[in-house]
Amino acid sequence: MIPLSQPMPAENIPASKAPGHWVLARLDKRILRPGGLALTRKMMQALNIGPTDKVVEFAPGLGVTAKMALEKKPARYTAIEREPVAAEQVRQYLNDKTQTCITASAQKTGLADQCATVVYGEAMLSMQPDGQKFEIMREAARLLPAGGQYAIHELSLVKVTPELQESIHEALCRTLHVGATPLTQEQWVYLLAQAGFKVTQIFTAPMALLEPVRIMRDEGLLQSLRFFFNLALHPEAYCRIAQMRAIFQKYKNHLSAIVIIAEKQAGIKNLHSTAHA
Ligand SMILES: C[S@@+](CC[C@H](N)C(=O)[O-])C[C@H]1O[C@@H](n2cnc3c(N)ncnc32)[C@H](O)[C@@H]1O
Repeated sequence: MIPLSQPMPAENIPASKAPGHWVLARLDKRILRPGGLALTRKMMQALNIGPTDKVVEFAPGLGVTAKMALEKKPARYTAIEREPVAAEQVRQYLNDKTQTCITASAQKTGLADQCATVVYGEAMLSMQPDGQKFEIMREAARLLPAGGQYAIHELSLVKVTPELQESIHEALCRTLHVGATPLTQEQWVYLLAQAGFKVTQIFTAPMALLEPVRIMRDEGLLQSLRFFFNLALHPEAYCRIAQMRAIFQKYKNHLSAIVIIAEKQAGIKNLHSTAHA
Protein backbone atom coordinates (compact mmCIF):
# COMPACT_ATOMS: atom_id res chain seq x y z
CA MET A 1 0.00 0.00 0.00
CA ILE A 2 1.08 3.59 -0.49
CA PRO A 3 2.27 4.49 3.01
CA LEU A 4 -0.35 6.56 4.80
CA SER A 5 0.71 9.88 6.22
CA GLN A 6 -0.78 9.02 9.61
CA PRO A 7 -1.83 6.00 11.69
CA MET A 8 -5.27 4.55 10.94
CA PRO A 9 -7.76 2.89 13.30
CA ALA A 10 -7.74 -0.94 13.36
CA GLU A 11 -4.34 -0.94 11.63
CA ASN A 12 -3.22 -4.11 13.37
CA ILE A 13 -6.36 -6.10 12.48
CA PRO A 14 -6.03 -8.04 9.18
CA ALA A 15 -8.04 -6.57 6.29
CA SER A 16 -10.13 -9.75 6.18
CA LYS A 17 -11.40 -9.10 9.71
CA ALA A 18 -11.33 -5.32 10.28
CA PRO A 19 -14.55 -3.26 10.19
CA GLY A 20 -15.29 -2.33 6.56
CA HIS A 21 -15.03 1.44 7.11
CA TRP A 22 -11.53 1.11 8.56
CA VAL A 23 -10.42 -1.10 5.65
CA LEU A 24 -11.54 1.74 3.36
CA ALA A 25 -9.71 4.30 5.51
CA ARG A 26 -6.52 2.21 5.37
CA LEU A 27 -6.75 2.33 1.58
CA ASP A 28 -6.90 6.12 1.97
CA LYS A 29 -10.62 6.58 1.39
CA ARG A 30 -11.72 9.45 3.60
CA ILE A 31 -15.46 9.84 2.91
CA LEU A 32 -17.17 6.99 4.76
CA ARG A 33 -20.84 8.00 4.72
CA PRO A 34 -23.50 6.43 2.44
CA GLY A 35 -24.75 9.59 0.71
CA GLY A 36 -21.29 11.02 0.05
CA LEU A 37 -20.22 14.63 0.25
CA ALA A 38 -23.21 15.89 -1.74
CA LEU A 39 -25.66 14.68 0.91
CA THR A 40 -23.40 15.99 3.67
CA ARG A 41 -23.47 19.43 2.00
CA LYS A 42 -27.29 19.35 1.99
CA MET A 43 -27.21 18.47 5.69
CA MET A 44 -24.80 21.31 6.47
CA GLN A 45 -26.84 23.77 4.41
CA ALA A 46 -30.01 22.81 6.29
CA LEU A 47 -28.25 23.11 9.66
CA ASN A 48 -26.97 26.57 8.68
CA ILE A 49 -24.29 26.61 11.39
CA GLY A 50 -23.23 30.15 12.35
CA PRO A 51 -20.96 31.96 14.84
CA THR A 52 -23.42 31.67 17.75
CA ASP A 53 -23.86 27.91 17.39
CA LYS A 54 -22.49 25.35 19.81
CA VAL A 55 -21.95 22.26 17.69
CA VAL A 56 -21.56 18.66 18.82
CA GLU A 57 -20.55 16.12 16.18
CA PHE A 58 -20.98 12.43 16.98
CA ALA A 59 -18.44 10.06 15.39
CA PRO A 60 -16.44 12.42 13.14
CA GLY A 61 -14.26 9.55 11.86
CA LEU A 62 -11.43 11.13 9.87
CA GLY A 63 -12.81 14.64 10.37
CA VAL A 64 -14.08 15.50 6.88
CA THR A 65 -17.36 17.08 8.07
CA ALA A 66 -15.59 18.46 11.15
CA LYS A 67 -13.54 20.67 8.82
CA MET A 68 -16.73 21.88 7.08
CA ALA A 69 -18.33 22.73 10.44
CA LEU A 70 -15.19 24.51 11.68
CA GLU A 71 -15.15 26.70 8.54
CA LYS A 72 -18.46 28.15 9.78
CA LYS A 73 -16.60 29.38 12.90
CA PRO A 74 -19.14 28.19 15.49
CA ALA A 75 -18.88 29.48 19.07
CA ARG A 76 -17.97 25.95 20.12
CA TYR A 77 -17.27 22.65 18.36
CA THR A 78 -17.11 19.37 20.28
CA ALA A 79 -16.56 16.01 18.62
CA ILE A 80 -17.32 12.70 20.34
CA GLU A 81 -15.40 9.84 18.72
CA ARG A 82 -15.01 6.46 20.38
CA GLU A 83 -12.00 5.35 18.30
CA PRO A 84 -8.86 6.95 19.82
CA VAL A 85 -6.78 6.92 16.60
CA ALA A 86 -9.57 8.65 14.66
CA ALA A 87 -10.08 11.15 17.51
CA GLU A 88 -6.38 12.02 17.29
CA GLN A 89 -6.78 12.78 13.57
CA VAL A 90 -9.75 15.06 14.23
CA ARG A 91 -7.70 16.94 16.87
CA GLN A 92 -5.27 17.98 14.15
CA TYR A 93 -8.01 20.22 12.70
CA LEU A 94 -8.79 21.95 15.99
CA ASN A 95 -7.41 25.43 16.54
CA ASP A 96 -8.22 26.69 20.03
CA LYS A 97 -9.86 25.72 23.30
CA THR A 98 -13.40 26.30 21.99
CA GLN A 99 -12.79 23.25 19.77
CA THR A 100 -12.37 19.80 21.30
CA CYS A 101 -12.54 16.14 20.38
CA ILE A 102 -13.37 13.79 23.24
CA THR A 103 -12.71 10.07 23.04
CA ALA A 104 -16.05 8.73 24.26
CA SER A 105 -19.21 6.98 23.15
CA ALA A 106 -22.00 9.09 21.73
CA GLN A 107 -24.52 7.46 24.07
CA LYS A 108 -22.55 8.72 27.09
CA THR A 109 -20.75 11.91 26.13
CA GLY A 110 -20.20 13.34 29.61
CA LEU A 111 -21.26 16.76 28.29
CA ALA A 112 -23.62 19.05 30.19
CA ASP A 113 -27.38 19.19 29.55
CA GLN A 114 -28.38 21.65 26.81
CA CYS A 115 -24.77 22.56 26.02
CA ALA A 116 -25.34 22.50 22.23
CA THR A 117 -27.54 24.21 19.65
CA VAL A 118 -26.72 21.71 16.88
CA VAL A 119 -25.88 18.00 17.11
CA TYR A 120 -25.19 15.80 14.10
CA GLY A 121 -23.69 12.41 13.29
CA GLU A 122 -23.04 10.56 10.04
CA ALA A 123 -22.78 6.84 9.29
CA MET A 124 -22.74 5.93 12.95
CA LEU A 125 -26.30 5.03 14.02
CA SER A 126 -26.74 2.42 11.28
CA MET A 127 -23.96 0.35 12.83
CA GLN A 128 -25.61 0.20 16.28
CA PRO A 129 -28.36 -2.11 17.49
CA ASP A 130 -31.71 -0.31 17.73
CA GLY A 131 -31.51 0.07 21.53
CA GLN A 132 -28.18 1.87 21.20
CA LYS A 133 -29.47 4.02 18.33
CA PHE A 134 -32.22 5.18 20.67
CA GLU A 135 -29.77 5.88 23.51
CA ILE A 136 -27.63 8.00 21.17
CA MET A 137 -30.67 9.94 19.98
CA ARG A 138 -31.72 10.48 23.61
CA GLU A 139 -28.23 11.73 24.38
CA ALA A 140 -28.55 14.19 21.47
CA ALA A 141 -31.89 15.30 22.94
CA ARG A 142 -30.26 15.79 26.35
CA LEU A 143 -27.54 18.00 24.86
CA LEU A 144 -30.05 20.28 23.09
CA PRO A 145 -32.59 22.83 24.34
CA ALA A 146 -36.10 22.76 22.87
CA GLY A 147 -35.82 23.92 19.25
CA GLY A 148 -32.19 22.71 18.95
CA GLN A 149 -31.34 20.83 15.77
CA TYR A 150 -30.25 17.21 15.41
CA ALA A 151 -29.21 15.82 12.01
CA ILE A 152 -28.43 12.27 11.02
CA HIS A 153 -26.94 10.96 7.77
CA GLU A 154 -27.47 7.21 7.62
CA LEU A 155 -28.22 4.14 5.58
CA SER A 156 -31.90 3.55 4.95
CA LEU A 157 -33.92 0.73 3.49
CA VAL A 158 -36.58 1.07 0.81
CA LYS A 159 -39.28 -1.31 -0.34
CA VAL A 160 -38.44 -4.03 2.19
CA THR A 161 -40.48 -6.68 3.91
CA PRO A 162 -39.46 -7.56 7.49
CA GLU A 163 -37.83 -10.74 6.08
CA LEU A 164 -35.82 -8.79 3.50
CA GLN A 165 -34.80 -6.25 6.14
CA GLU A 166 -33.47 -9.11 8.26
CA SER A 167 -31.61 -10.66 5.28
CA ILE A 168 -29.98 -7.32 4.44
CA HIS A 169 -28.99 -6.82 8.08
CA GLU A 170 -27.38 -10.28 8.19
CA ALA A 171 -25.58 -9.80 4.86
CA LEU A 172 -24.24 -6.38 5.88
CA CYS A 173 -23.05 -7.63 9.29
CA ARG A 174 -21.30 -10.58 7.66
CA THR A 175 -19.56 -8.40 5.07
CA LEU A 176 -18.90 -5.14 6.90
CA HIS A 177 -17.96 -6.78 10.22
CA VAL A 178 -20.02 -4.23 12.13
CA GLY A 179 -23.53 -4.69 13.52
CA ALA A 180 -25.11 -2.86 10.58
CA THR A 181 -28.83 -2.45 11.25
CA PRO A 182 -30.20 0.13 8.81
CA LEU A 183 -33.83 1.24 9.14
CA THR A 184 -36.52 2.36 6.73
CA GLN A 185 -37.27 6.09 6.55
CA GLU A 186 -40.43 5.51 8.58
CA GLN A 187 -38.46 3.61 11.26
CA TRP A 188 -35.81 6.38 11.49
CA VAL A 189 -38.55 8.99 11.84
CA TYR A 190 -40.38 6.90 14.44
CA LEU A 191 -37.22 6.41 16.53
CA LEU A 192 -36.44 10.13 16.38
CA ALA A 193 -39.99 10.94 17.48
CA GLN A 194 -39.66 8.49 20.39
CA ALA A 195 -36.43 10.23 21.39
CA GLY A 196 -38.17 13.62 21.48
CA PHE A 197 -37.60 15.05 18.00
CA LYS A 198 -39.86 16.46 15.31
CA VAL A 199 -38.58 15.88 11.78
CA THR A 200 -38.33 19.09 9.74
CA GLN A 201 -36.54 18.01 6.54
CA ILE A 202 -35.52 14.80 4.79
CA PHE A 203 -33.04 14.39 1.92
CA THR A 204 -32.13 11.16 0.21
CA ALA A 205 -29.44 10.05 -2.24
CA PRO A 206 -28.42 6.75 -3.78
CA MET A 207 -26.23 4.57 -1.59
CA ALA A 208 -23.19 4.60 -3.90
CA LEU A 209 -20.29 4.50 -1.44
CA LEU A 210 -18.23 2.10 -3.56
CA GLU A 211 -19.30 3.18 -7.04
CA PRO A 212 -16.36 4.61 -9.04
CA VAL A 213 -18.23 7.80 -10.05
CA ARG A 214 -19.13 8.55 -6.42
CA ILE A 215 -15.58 7.77 -5.27
CA MET A 216 -14.19 10.24 -7.84
CA ARG A 217 -16.73 12.91 -6.82
CA ASP A 218 -16.10 12.45 -3.11
CA GLU A 219 -12.35 11.97 -3.04
CA GLY A 220 -11.21 13.98 -6.07
CA LEU A 221 -8.95 12.70 -8.82
CA LEU A 222 -5.64 12.33 -6.96
CA GLN A 223 -7.09 10.77 -3.81
CA SER A 224 -9.20 8.37 -5.93
CA LEU A 225 -6.11 7.29 -7.84
CA ARG A 226 -4.34 6.62 -4.53
CA PHE A 227 -7.33 4.56 -3.40
CA PHE A 228 -7.54 2.50 -6.63
CA PHE A 229 -3.76 2.03 -6.63
CA ASN A 230 -3.86 0.83 -3.01
CA LEU A 231 -6.68 -1.56 -3.91
CA ALA A 232 -4.63 -3.04 -6.74
CA LEU A 233 -1.60 -3.47 -4.48
CA HIS A 234 -3.41 -5.06 -1.58
CA PRO A 235 -5.26 -8.26 -2.54
CA GLU A 236 -6.68 -9.02 0.91
CA ALA A 237 -8.25 -5.57 1.19
CA TYR A 238 -9.33 -5.76 -2.48
CA CYS A 239 -11.18 -8.97 -1.69
CA ARG A 240 -12.97 -7.34 1.29
CA ILE A 241 -13.98 -4.28 -0.74
CA ALA A 242 -15.17 -6.49 -3.62
CA GLN A 243 -17.37 -8.46 -1.17
CA MET A 244 -18.78 -5.23 0.28
CA ARG A 245 -19.50 -3.82 -3.18
CA ALA A 246 -21.17 -7.09 -4.24
CA ILE A 247 -23.58 -6.88 -1.29
CA PHE A 248 -24.32 -3.20 -1.99
CA GLN A 249 -24.98 -4.14 -5.64
CA LYS A 250 -27.14 -7.12 -4.71
CA TYR A 251 -29.41 -4.94 -2.58
CA LYS A 252 -29.05 -1.72 -4.57
CA ASN A 253 -32.81 -1.37 -5.07
CA HIS A 254 -33.33 -1.51 -1.32
CA LEU A 255 -30.45 0.60 0.00
CA SER A 256 -30.49 4.37 0.13
CA ALA A 257 -28.76 7.18 1.99
CA ILE A 258 -30.85 9.50 4.12
CA VAL A 259 -30.34 12.78 5.92
CA ILE A 260 -32.97 13.71 8.48
CA ILE A 261 -33.02 17.11 10.12
CA ALA A 262 -35.00 17.15 13.35
CA GLU A 263 -35.86 19.64 16.05
CA LYS A 264 -35.94 18.89 19.76
CA GLN A 265 -39.49 19.11 21.04
CA ALA A 266 -40.39 21.11 24.13
CA GLY A 267 -41.22 19.25 27.36
CA ILE A 268 -38.97 16.23 26.75
CA LYS A 269 -37.56 14.69 29.93
CA ASN A 270 -33.89 13.67 29.88
CA LEU A 271 -32.83 10.06 30.37
CA HIS A 272 -29.85 11.28 32.42
CA SER A 273 -30.59 14.60 34.06
CA THR A 274 -27.05 16.02 34.19
CA ALA A 275 -23.60 15.37 32.70
CA HIS A 276 -22.11 11.96 33.41
CA ALA A 277 -18.55 13.19 33.92
C1 LIG B 1 -18.46 4.64 9.09
S1 LIG B 1 -17.50 5.65 10.12
C2 LIG B 1 -18.15 7.25 9.70
C3 LIG B 1 -17.19 8.35 10.02
C4 LIG B 1 -17.64 9.75 9.58
N1 LIG B 1 -18.80 10.18 10.34
C5 LIG B 1 -17.94 9.76 8.10
O1 LIG B 1 -19.12 9.80 7.76
O2 LIG B 1 -17.01 9.75 7.29
C6 LIG B 1 -18.20 5.35 11.69
C7 LIG B 1 -17.58 6.18 12.80
O3 LIG B 1 -18.40 6.10 13.95
C8 LIG B 1 -17.60 5.95 15.10
N2 LIG B 1 -18.50 5.40 16.12
C9 LIG B 1 -19.26 4.29 15.99
N3 LIG B 1 -20.03 4.14 17.08
C10 LIG B 1 -19.77 5.19 17.89
C11 LIG B 1 -20.27 5.59 19.16
N4 LIG B 1 -21.19 4.85 19.80
N5 LIG B 1 -19.79 6.72 19.71
C12 LIG B 1 -18.85 7.46 19.07
N6 LIG B 1 -18.34 7.12 17.87
C13 LIG B 1 -18.80 6.00 17.28
C14 LIG B 1 -16.49 5.03 14.60
O4 LIG B 1 -15.37 5.05 15.45
C15 LIG B 1 -16.21 5.69 13.25
O5 LIG B 1 -15.36 6.79 13.37
